[in-house]
Amino acid sequence: MKRMLASSSPAMVLLFMVFAVLVMLPEASAKRWLVGDNMGWNSNVNYSTWVKGKHFYNGDWLFFVYDRNQIDVLEVNKNDYEKCNSDHPLHNWTTGAGRDDVPLNVTRNYYFISGKGGFCFKGMKPPVETRAPASELPPTIANATSPAQPPAETGAPTFSPERGGAPTLSSRTQVLLMAVVFAIGATWDTFIHFC
Ligand SMILES: *[C@@H]1O[C@H](CO)[C@@H](O)[C@H](O)[C@H]1NC(C)=O
Ligand SMILES: *[C@@H]1O[C@H](CO)[C@@H](O)[C@H](O)[C@H]1NC(C)=O
Ligand SMILES: *[C@@H]1O[C@H](CO)[C@@H](O)[C@H](O)[C@H]1NC(C)=O
Ligand SMILES: *[C@@H]1O[C@H](CO)[C@@H](O)[C@H](O)[C@H]1NC(C)=O
Repeated sequence: MKRMLASSSPAMVLLFMVFAVLVMLPEASAKRWLVGDNMGWNSNVNYSTWVKGKHFYNGDWLFFVYDRNQIDVLEVNKNDYEKCNSDHPLHNWTTGAGRDDVPLNVTRNYYFISGKGGFCFKGMKPPVETRAPASELPPTIANATSPAQPPAETGAPTFSPERGGAPTLSSRTQVLLMAVVFAIGATWDTFIHFC
């Protein structure tokens, strides 16, 4: 019994760590941008200025808050974006509540406009270039081909926040990978000692 307790506690610690990491993930992961900050999505904001200096990454979200009676949220192609043409939106993100979440889940340029009120012509058209976090992958992780090899003992899953506290997809994947390895290790450890 003593032996069992002694051997299972490190496993419990590891399991707890994995659990902690999984709980932390949603909070520490993607960034949700409030479009226009506290001004929201309306014609009084210069969105070219708003996007300036912001880096949008695959996995981030845009949150549009606006007057649902006057404004909508349409995603259009580049051509329609330039012409403020809302006749053939790629995606109508307007749900009717005046609060719409849009996932930036593809690495490409996104073009949003307000189709209503002619506000697009006044600049309600933020150009959102969504970047891949792939270039930030550490090379050792990028082509690690043997997931069976456990990380070093000191390699406990820790967050190394990049770009102002929001870890990228790559570091999340890395943490998840380590968590899985730890979980398998911990389970195996417990299993061995119970048999
Ligand atoms: C977008 O969807 C909303 C809600 O379904 C609808 O009221 C609106 O007419 C649609 N807009 C366009 C341009 O399709
Ligand atoms: C991105 O999100 C949209 C809306 O939730 C979904 O329809 C689409 O399949 C997603 N695309 C990818 C590549 O995950
Ligand atoms: C937005 O601001 C930029 C300068 O940051 C300016 O060049 C542009 O004309 C403004 N757009 C509108 C619609 O006022
Ligand atoms: C990763 O790939 C690069 C080129 O694709 C190679 O030069 C390097 O040796 C690889 N590293 C590992 C750890 O496999």
